[in-house]
Amino acid sequence: MYISRELLEKVIREAGAIALGYFNDLKNLEVTKKSSRDLVTEADVAVEAFLQETLSREYPQYGFWGEESGQSENQANRWIVDPIDGTHSFTKGQYFWSISVALEIAGEIVFGAVYVPTVDDYYCAEKGMGAWKNGMPIKVSGEQNLGDSMVATGFACLRNYLEDNNLQRFCRIAQKTTGQRRFGSAAMDICMVADGQVDAFWEQELNLYDVAAGALIAMEAGATVTDFKGNPGIFPKQILVTNGKLLEQILPLM
Ligand code: IPD
Ligand code: CA
Ligand code: CA
Repeated sequence: MYISRELLEKVIREAGAIALGYFNDLKNLEVTKKSSRDLVTEADVAVEAFLQETLSREYPQYGFWGEESGQSENQANRWIVDPIDGTHSFTKGQYFWSISVALEIAGEIVFGAVYVPTVDDYYCAEKGMGAWKNGMPIKVSGEQNLGDSMVATGFACLRNYLEDNNLQRFCRIAQKTTGQRRFGSAAMDICMVADGQVDAFWEQELNLYDVAAGALIAMEAGATVTDFKGNPGIFPKQILVTNGKLLEQILPLM
């Protein structure tokens, strides 16, 4: 295999401890705006710097792409990292934020880990080896009826004031489902589908670092990962993740 799962878990949990250090001292947290609706904090930067330094030392053969520092030279085989997914939630002292680390080899995601430090949940998967949470195998829910399902989404697209800003889609789907959630961390949302806590998730205008790790974990747990037309694959600008039983029912509403 390309990596040591044990070493990766140790490194990502250490990154979680760094994040929690800032999380437990929010009154002194430096927060800046990257754009009109995008925040970045010193915690995002510190966690990413730790991951880049550590992963580049342990695996010099792989490049690095982090949300805050951008892309290193070698992008053929690379780590794809969102140091804190759910920064806005983080700054408000909420539980729902995560650290997302994926390894892409020759264009394919082969390892993914999403760590939620506030509840100490570590999700991971290697291609073809199943999906795990805290060392136990996980799988998608058995929900067969969209009308009884719980779905999650996000509104990244509001940032771009796009014509299609997800609000009408949300209303269509909300009227056909029992529960709707907007947790605030797309990486974590996708892992909740993998873990059967949510039956489907969709969002537009994300980036690969938001979804790469979660998408592998979800696929290894039996989820479908498609675009809004049902084409299989990881499409950050239009991602739909379902428990596999609801795909045909939800597609007409997308
Ligand atoms: C955000 C979260 C959120 C999603 C936003 C993303 P960030 O990530 O994933 O759930 O709706 O579009 O930008 O910016 O906190 O890393
Ligand atoms: Ca993110
Ligand atoms: Ca982020």
